[in-house]
Amino acid sequence: MIPIIDLKKQYETIKKEVDPVIQEVIYSTRYVLGDEVANLEAGIASYTGAKFAVGVNSGTDALLLALKACGIGPGDEVITTAFSFFATAEVIDLLGGKPVFVDINKEDFTIDVSLIERKINKNTKAIIPVHLYGQAAAMDAILALAGKYHLKVIEDCAQALGAEIETVDGRLQAVGKGSVQGKPAEQKKRRRVGSLGDYGCISFYPTKNLGCFGDGGMIVTNDENAYNLLKKLRSHGEKKKYEHEFAGYNSRLDTLQAAVLLVKLRYLDTWTDRRIEIAKMYDKKLTAVKTPKANNKGLRHVYNLYTILTADREGLQKLLKEKEIGTAIHYPLAMPFQEAFNKYGYKKGDFPIAENASTKVLSIPMYPELTDQQVDQVITAVNSFRR
Ligand SMILES: Cc1ncc(COP(=O)(O)O)c(C=O)c1O
Repeated sequence: MIPIIDLKKQYETIKKEVDPVIQEVIYSTRYVLGDEVANLEAGIASYTGAKFAVGVNSGTDALLLALKACGIGPGDEVITTAFSFFATAEVIDLLGGKPVFVDINKEDFTIDVSLIERKINKNTKAIIPVHLYGQAAAMDAILALAGKYHLKVIEDCAQALGAEIETVDGRLQAVGKGSVQGKPAEQKKRRRVGSLGDYGCISFYPTKNLGCFGDGGMIVTNDENAYNLLKKLRSHGEKKKYEHEFAGYNSRLDTLQAAVLLVKLRYLDTWTDRRIEIAKMYDKKLTAVKTPKANNKGLRHVYNLYTILTADREGLQKLLKEKEIGTAIHYPLAMPFQEAFNKYGYKKGDFPIAENASTKVLSIPMYPELTDQQVDQVITAVNSFRR
């Protein structure tokens, strides 16, 4: 059996380090906002290259609090991709704002930046690009538009902690153009997602590249005022013990989760390198199927998911199930067509690329603990599929 993800296998590799830190937190009794939370915030800020980080209780709340910090409320519009996990758009709706969806590009399934500008109007306040499957969206173009129209940019990094974009002398390079176009003397550098927009929202959901033992999330930002506001927002609008400046949320990252994540953070890059290695094997040897394009030259795709495209998804899924290989669909319905968004009146055909993708995508096993032999087994099984 090769499951779509094997969390127990990862736990076993770090059990000796994780078990004691859990015990330590239990004995410390600092269960809420203990030192581990602050240490993890410092660790993630440094990892992403952002100045500040605020631990919250999920990736969804990271997005919610970031939008709240931007002042999003009734009458405001927020532009986002049509193809992501529901939470990306849910939080806009929850605050009384309107999610304005944009189709994805055919190449890598992130938001099609050529379609954004026509959706901007006087009510538009922000853009939420999603670094889907672990690959950065075209942040250069998105940031240029945001600058032109004074919009906030909230990066949904739930699937992409550690994903990178190349820069030349600090400027982002166009995504999809391959290697950096700058002069040889210019310094090539990489920047990590999360630190590029106004806010970067991270999920520590167990299946993410850095996953905890429950729900967890974090917001990174370079803006000190936003950081101070977010700290109040996650804790009842509290400025001092029992003094509440405004109504906020109870959305703190548990000390226990932070302690687990601090151990795992030490392994994140090794695990990500292994994901990339597995993706290379899949890329090379999966002959019967297509995948969204990975712009490997200018980007570091961190492969939270490895997703293939197949016209006969049911057939392939059935065959893989028979061979005891796990699969999942990310995502079976484009977000505009979720029942919760019926009120916005989006119509079939409005988002052709996302709609087509939702009928064809299939994720196959992708986690660092997969052995080469298991990867080969998956490849052989997928390649044996005949429609
Ligand atoms: C793209 C995307 N956005 C947001 C979320 C929400 O994160 P969480 O499950 O931690 O609330 C997820 C993950 O589940 C996700 O994949």
